[in-house]
Amino acid sequence: MKKVALITGATGGIGSAITKQLINDGYKVVATYIHQMYDHSVEWVKESGFSDDQIRLLELDVTKGDECQEKLTKLLAEEGSIEVLVNTAGITRDAVFKKMTADDWHAVIDTNLNSVFNVTHPIFPAMLEQGHGRIVNITSVNGIKGQFGQTNYSAAKAGMIGFTKALALEGAKAGVTVNAVAPGYTATPMVAKMREEVLESIKAQIPMRRLATPEDIANAVAYLVSDSGAYITGETLSVNGGLYMH
Ligand code: CAA
Repeated sequence: MKKVALITGATGGIGSAITKQLINDGYKVVATYIHQMYDHSVEWVKESGFSDDQIRLLELDVTKGDECQEKLTKLLAEEGSIEVLVNTAGITRDAVFKKMTADDWHAVIDTNLNSVFNVTHPIFPAMLEQGHGRIVNITSVNGIKGQFGQTNYSAAKAGMIGFTKALALEGAKAGVTVNAVAPGYTATPMVAKMREEVLESIKAQIPMRRLATPEDIANAVAYLVSDSGAYITGETLSVNGGLYMH
């Protein structure tokens, strides 16, 4: 039986590289997607050529607590056990704070931070009970250093880091590790939608002078969930080309 990895945002910019990596490492991935992304997700799975025992698509709105509780409880019963959870789902709604609407604020906090509660809460007790498990939360360099125009996103991503450290303490005794990976600017549609001159000025500040690839981020996740990562917990692993060191 393959071990199961549940990944949110699993067919998105960074998520799709994590999904591929974990499938290649032998996991069966349960890949969540939102209703609006159904066509994209089905197409992505088809193009990737993965079989039904390698990937299972699950429609899940991670902002809805009741839906997560219900669908993930059912998933646990069907799959038997979930070994790995990667919370990747996230959005941006960038604006300087004085122009930021309440909707921009709540959308980002709900999708990037409250989602982590909604998805982890039904899964974590089963990991404690089975005596092993790996949780990785995809945060951001901008949750560590703050970013102009991203009060909502920086707050949510910083919140994920606090969550990671606190939950790591609760999982440690049972052998459940909880870590975060903090990507820098990564070649994804999220970054591609930034204004070109703003992105160019940020690129010029990256010591490695290039964006991260999604695979750079997936490699860090694969390490943390592997046996080699067994004694690492509560950590935030930066993968940012030297953009910020903490
Ligand atoms: N520090 C200080 N001042 C800055 C600044 C900075 N980093 N960036 C801009 N300013 C100044 C500008 O020079 C400008 O000053 P003046 O009014 O004196 O001319 C003022 O602030 C307004 O700036 P903008 O013209 O950029 O304002 P805007 O309203 O047109 O755009 C914005 C606002 C959309 C937030 C834009 O600034 C922006 O895109 N910023 C970058 C946000 C960012 O990094 N997003 C990352 C998205 S990808 C991601 O989040 C993934 C990940 O994890 C890394």
